[in-house]
Amino acid sequence: MTQLTIAIAKGRLQAGALDLLAGAGLSFSAETLASRRLAVTDESGNYRLIFMKPADVPVYVEHGIADCGIVGRDILLESEADVLQPLSLSLGACRLVVATRNDAPINQLGMLRVATKYPRIAARHFGARGVAVDLIELSGSVELASVLGLADCIVDLVETGKTLQENGLVIVEVVADSAARLVVNRSSYQMKADAVGQFIRSLKDALRRQANVD
Ligand code: PRP
Repeated sequence: MTQLTIAIAKGRLQAGALDLLAGAGLSFSAETLASRRLAVTDESGNYRLIFMKPADVPVYVEHGIADCGIVGRDILLESEADVLQPLSLSLGACRLVVATRNDAPINQLGMLRVATKYPRIAARHFGARGVAVDLIELSGSVELASVLGLADCIVDLVETGKTLQENGLVIVEVVADSAARLVVNRSSYQMKADAVGQFIRSLKDALRRQANVD
């Protein structure tokens, strides 16, 4: 069978993605999974997994280095990568929200200062509402920006809500829902149609079985 390379987002989605792939019949030794290797091949030799930061998954898939990827919708909304999204995976459900300090003064003068790891999503969201924003791009712990007054509000991911709650922030608005998606390179979808089709069917079967168990 043609080998497929699958890019996996490291971090919050990784464990769930590996469980789903195991359910879809991919098999890796415990030693392989425990290693720090960034590229591993499954026991059948049909699948190679490569692990990377979430934002890099659409980049590798768009360029065809990876045939497929598993990554959050939040990342895809922020990315401009041209990739196919044939399947939503019931994994990593979360929301992108606008949040602020619950005692934050309302800024009625000038531009709204918005801190975020998602500048394009934030620009689109506020742009559609005609709100002028000064975007402050950060790479993590975005809640601090609101807590410490660097920004009037943040656009960030909320999963359990604990980080917001424990830092005294409240949700003002939901921007989008997110969950993991399977993405596929356009050319692989055609040139490796049998292997990609088989992979998608296996994932759908695994998702059905997971849904019946839950
Ligand atoms: C994300 C997000 C929030 C947190 C929300 O950060 O940016 O900070 O998780 O999760 P919760 O609602 O379950 O508390 P992540 O853990 O990816 O790390 P980062 O802050 O370094 O980006």
